[in-house]
Amino acid sequence: MQSEFPEGFLWGGATAANQFEGGYLEGGKGLSTADVMTSGEHGVPREITNGIMDDRHYPSHEAVGHYRRFEEDIELFGELGFKCYRLSINWTRIFPNGDEAEPNEEGLRYYDEVFDACLRRNIEPLVTLSHFETPLGLLKYGSWTNRQVVDFFLRYCETVFNRYKSKVTRWITFNEINVMSTKPWMAGGVDSDEEQVRMTAAYHQFLASAKAVRLAHQINPANKVGMMYAGHFSYPHSCDPEDVQRHDEFMHKMLFYCDVQCRGRYPAYKLKEFEREGITLPIEAGDEETLRQGTVDFLSFSYYLTHVVGKETSLVMKGLNGVKTGYANPHLPTSEWGWAINPLGLRHALNVLYDRYQIPLMIVENGLGAVDRVEEDGSVHDGCRIDYLRDHIREMRKAIQLDGVEVWGYTMWSPIDIISASTGEMKKRYGLIYADVDDQGGGTFKRIRKDSFHWYKKVIASNGADL
Ligand code: BG6
Repeated sequence: MQSEFPEGFLWGGATAANQFEGGYLEGGKGLSTADVMTSGEHGVPREITNGIMDDRHYPSHEAVGHYRRFEEDIELFGELGFKCYRLSINWTRIFPNGDEAEPNEEGLRYYDEVFDACLRRNIEPLVTLSHFETPLGLLKYGSWTNRQVVDFFLRYCETVFNRYKSKVTRWITFNEINVMSTKPWMAGGVDSDEEQVRMTAAYHQFLASAKAVRLAHQINPANKVGMMYAGHFSYPHSCDPEDVQRHDEFMHKMLFYCDVQCRGRYPAYKLKEFEREGITLPIEAGDEETLRQGTVDFLSFSYYLTHVVGKETSLVMKGLNGVKTGYANPHLPTSEWGWAINPLGLRHALNVLYDRYQIPLMIVENGLGAVDRVEEDGSVHDGCRIDYLRDHIREMRKAIQLDGVEVWGYTMWSPIDIISASTGEMKKRYGLIYADVDDQGGGTFKRIRKDSFHWYKKVIASNGADL
């Protein structure tokens, strides 16, 4: 069997600290925006509470207990043959309130141990600096609406770039940065529907990311820093030019985040929109140069589904991946959570991004959220997940092989069942490994290899030849 994936292709999996670690107050950790989000369910949104209420369940507090079980979990990633593991550093383990002058040594030591556990198994860590976990202590500044937060973020970046210089060389600044337009609380502790507020916060994140890119290069010239796009891709509802026009506008709303980070400036269409809407950016001297000089080395993105957009679609978007556009795609099946499953759309997505930016791409999230059942003999048969992953990997292979798209790697979401970001549920499971935890946080926390575990192991061992 001959593999059609490049040699050294980065196969692996991806997680986020707040959905995986738990231990929300251990090791000197402070509270983050994720720690005040209750659990919801399909159709019932998570709530953001003012502090922690005794009678509410907050899934990030215990999550699936990775904080104490990281050795065992990473051992399983080693068994899978991972080449790469994408994880996030929880900012509040390093700077518990976000604004301290000195970092928390215990937090730094924790990630030293995590990275060492990866490196011992030849797994390269790919680290997200901010994955839906902004320190709650920064709210008193107005979080990302305040320019001072850029400096706090840079202090955190400088600390971890220096500390992990010999262990990590691939970084992502902000997870799904375009979530600032759909769920700003998750993207950066911003609780507002106002476009002016969201665009101010996004502006500061762009500046912070650009500065982080330069800093990372200065500290270690081997560092590669990427951006991360929440993969919103759509098809026009029909060939009615009005539907196509709305579709283009929808894509502009999302892709402008990539334009700024890959090209180093705001696109003309966005500046015209700001002019029309009366939105102003808090630009200071030197900022344009900062954005220009801080373009990313690679573009990473998540891909779960595609949308259909037409003239009825509102451009005020809400929701995380399951953005409501008002249309369904009759050609596609949907997951139990209503997400349209579209493997061919991944090839399309890779081509859209590569045509537009011509820089290396990474798929850093892709997977199926589904209910799993543990059989009496302890096995978990998740054939649907295998089908989902296989079909997507095939389309990724076509993009590489037939279209010449440069793809560095693929980290599926997520190697172990973890908390769902959009609903806070456990039962929306993505894992190759089952975690025995329920929606209320009960269970043994035991890990069980699912059928997809054995399948993905073969895929990696054959560098994608044995699908
Ligand atoms: C992405 C996020 O939006 O999608 C992850 O980066 C998230 O944090 C993933 O978990 C899947 O979404 P959900 O809501 O099903 O967990």
